[in-house]
This record gives sequence, structure tokens and C-alpha cells, in this order.
Amino acid sequence: MGSKDKIFMRTMTFSPLVRLFHWIRAFSIFFLIFSGFYLAYPFLTPEVSATPTNFLYASFRSFHVMAGFLLICVSFFRLYLFFTSKSKSERVSASELFNMKIWIGQIKNYLFLGAHPHIKGVYNPIQFFAYLTLAILVLIVSLTGVILYYHVYHDGLGGILGAIFKWLEVALGGLANVRVLHHITTWAIVLFIPVHVYMVVWNAIKHPDGGADSIVGGFRYQEIKAKHK
Ligand code: HEM
Repeated sequence: MGSKDKIFMRTMTFSPLVRLFHWIRAFSIFFLIFSGFYLAYPFLTPEVSATPTNFLYASFRSFHVMAGFLLICVSFFRLYLFFTSKSKSERVSASELFNMKIWIGQIKNYLFLGAHPHIKGVYNPIQFFAYLTLAILVLIVSLTGVILYYHVYHDGLGGILGAIFKWLEVALGGLANVRVLHHITTWAIVLFIPVHVYMVVWNAIKHPDGGADSIVGGFRYQEIKAKHK
């Protein structure tokens, strides 16, 4: 092997389930934003007809709610994997969240003022903080979404959820506030997406170790600094 050849260590960063859940959540969030903005401002109306069959708003609401429950289910499973996964790399990242040295090193790296600090986990603390914020936003949008849901569908699941979450609706000051909170949280999620994509692309260019494709293929390639003669 020539002295200029590089050796890489291949490590599995994201398991098939984690990758699958990432993409289900990504596509459901895109759909929820689009359909949610339609529900807030119905910019299309079906042709007026004598027979009332063109329930476009109701269809949007139905699909919005289905995607919403899909997001809730997948988010539960994802949380479960965070705590139970055999690979400890995500949980280790949580332990570095309050490490100021790594925070400063990472900020310097983002500002092109220093090398990437050594991290033990899969996410740096700024990244972990951003994902934690997204998780909290998804929790808020899900809880407020469920409250909006049981006001539209009163029987079955709606009845059960109504009995469980009525206290939260009251604590938030009523349905109007819940709706506003659901809407504002949507905008916070909308802001997260371009920043997330920008950071992934930035990292892929600055540290080309397969970090971006690992959410598709699962693997990351780290260079092993071997001593050659
Ligand atoms: C990323 C997740 C979500 C986003 C971005 C989102 C976005 C939105 C937006 C913007 C609205 C319109 C609010 C307004 O009137 O100003 C809305 C309405 C609504 N959302 Fe969501 N939502 C999400 C998740 C959910 C979930 C998890 C559920 C329930 C399971 C849900 C159920 C509803 C319902 C029932 C409405 C009201 C429909 C109506 O007024 O008839 N949403 N959503």
C-alpha cells in the first residue's frame, strides 16, 4: 500500500430502523406543514355544486390528522430506540451536552477558527441541543394537535383523548390559544428545516466522512491516522 493511501474505519452510525423513522418523520412533517397551512388558510375551494360532495377542507383535515398520528407513533418508537438501542453513541452525546469545552471548540469549528473537537458520541452538543429542541417542538405540536383533533371527532379515540387532555386545554387558556400555539410551533419547525439541511450540507463539505449519507446508508467512514514510512 502506497504512503499516500488512506485507511478508513467503517462504523454503523444509524441502524435501519432509525433511518426509516427519520425519513417517515421528515415526509410526514413536510406534509403536515403543507396541509396545516391549508387548514389555516384554505387557499383552494372546490367548484360550487348543487350536491355537496366536494369536501376539500374535510379531506385535508383527515389526511392531516392521519399524518399527525403517524408522526406521533413514529416519534414514540424513535424515543424508545434512543433509550434502548444497543449502540450507546446517541446516549453518550447527551452526556456531553453540558461540556463547555466542547461547546466552545464546536463554535470555533463552525466559525472556521479551529479543528473539530473530539466527541465521544454521534452528535456534537450544539447539534444535540438542536435535535432536543425539535423533539420538544414535535411534542408541543402533537399535544396541541391532539386537542384540536378531539374537538372535531368526539367519539372513540377522540372521546378518550378528550378525557385525558382536557386539563391541558384548560391550562393553556382554551381552544383558541391551543390553535395559536399549534400554528406558532409550525413556524418554529419551518425555521428548523433550512438550518438543519444547511448544517448537514456544511458538515458534508467540511468533514467528508459520510456523515450526511449515513442517514441513508447507515455508515460513517473515519480516517485512521496510520504511520507510514
Ligand atoms: C409537524 C407537525 C404538525 C404541523 C406542522 C401542523 C400544522 C398545523 C397547522 C398550521 C394548522 C392550522 C392551524 C390554524 O388554524 O391556524 C393545523 C391544524 C390542525 N392540526 Fe396540525 N400540525 C401538526 C401536527 C398535528 C398532529 C400531531 C395532530 C393530531 C394528531 C394535528 C391535528 C390538527 C387538527 C385537528 C387541526 C385543526 C383542523 C381544523 O381546524 O379543522 N396536527 N395543524
